[in-house]
Amino acid sequence: MSFVFTIEKQRYRQKLSRDEIRDFVKGAVDGSIPDYQLAAMCMAISLNGMSDDEIRELIVAMLEGGGRYDIGRDIPDAIEQHTTGGVGDGIDLTLLPLLATVGLHPAKLTAPAIGISSGIIDKVDSIPGMSTMLDRTAFLGVIRTVGCALANHGPDLVPADARLYAIRDVTATVDSIALIAGSILSKKLATGAPYIHISVKYGRAALLKTRRDGMELARLMAEVATAMGRNITVPLIRFDGALGQALGLALEIKQAIAVMQGGGPADLRQQIVAMGAQILQLVGRERNVAAGRALLEKTLDSGKVYEKFCDWIAAQGGDRRTVENPALLPTAPVMLDAPSPADGTVLDLDPRLAGELSISLGGGRLRKGDPLDHRVGLVLHRRSGERVTRGEPLFTVHAATPEAAENARRRLASTYLIGEGAVRPALVEEEVFGLGQTITPTGHGRDQT
Ligand code: URA
Repeated sequence: MSFVFTIEKQRYRQKLSRDEIRDFVKGAVDGSIPDYQLAAMCMAISLNGMSDDEIRELIVAMLEGGGRYDIGRDIPDAIEQHTTGGVGDGIDLTLLPLLATVGLHPAKLTAPAIGISSGIIDKVDSIPGMSTMLDRTAFLGVIRTVGCALANHGPDLVPADARLYAIRDVTATVDSIALIAGSILSKKLATGAPYIHISVKYGRAALLKTRRDGMELARLMAEVATAMGRNITVPLIRFDGALGQALGLALEIKQAIAVMQGGGPADLRQQIVAMGAQILQLVGRERNVAAGRALLEKTLDSGKVYEKFCDWIAAQGGDRRTVENPALLPTAPVMLDAPSPADGTVLDLDPRLAGELSISLGGGRLRKGDPLDHRVGLVLHRRSGERVTRGEPLFTVHAATPEAAENARRRLASTYLIGEGAVRPALVEEEVFGLGQTITPTGHGRDQT
């Protein structure tokens, strides 16, 4: 039957059969469905949603549309880590080598940037030689040599995600529970890691906007992965302000290196440690998150994580000298500061616009297949809750041209609200799903960005 009738059914919220969902995924993989029909289908799914049963079928169809690495056969404690994403949400650059340093085995299959969320695959692409297209042997080899590995989805693993993802990124069909669940879980199941940790974020700085959507997605992913025999933890996090200061590909690598050298933004470090501690508990390495945090704080301060990071990048073909000397990473020709117009506390700024500007400057794709500019982005020196003195830079735009820099400076500066008052924390973990339980956490947060 023609795929146009399946789009029509989805458009009128009629339940899709297993065969229709499988044909959709098959057509995405073999190219028999053109981009414009896939885009229409993604839009209909985004607008109308899918039932839990349909989403389960979608996940399985996407998983079965490609190969599997079944990494758990060789590395029984392998762990898959992921986040649904948001502005500056780049904990993985540090988390993977951090966990590897304490003897865990993070094996991550992921994807380029999507929507306002930056992606680790695009970031590490700033490093000459770095390869993320790893077949099973290479993936296993890197994990065995350094303890962690990073692979991109593609023709071997979850090809349906590779095709749909590129379309969703440029058709405003990113924030759909069904499409996110299909995309993330098919990847996490395809590597075959026995342990999975996925942070689901919702809020002003997140891909998902509402708490209801975040809860729904967290619950569903925890249920599906548990039913498929995985040990999974899914924290639900309210995310209302950019994480860390840097937005941009090479800029986020430089920031991650600063964290691994004992510096960097405190909120980013806290989030890395909090998620890492949950992972230590998930794999049974620590009995509680407090012990995990203590271990990870100490390890981050030891300098060993940075060494591990350099080893990992080199093991995947990346130029070691570039990460040992971050000044060699791509740098924008134009840097423009936005000075604060007043003394006071930053009461607000628009994190979503900051994410959008970073993409428009060239750090993301506006059309499918757009080349990326690894040099550009923003550094937010002052975020919500932070004090500033008149004339000090609120943020710096890193741009390819003076015109692009000035446009971004003007637009983001107009969203800054400076005055006196308190702001609520921007990043708060609200619940944890997984292992058949819903836990209310002891809580961690930071002032709003
Ligand atoms: N990350 C993914 O891998 N897929 C999505 O759809 C969103 C975030």
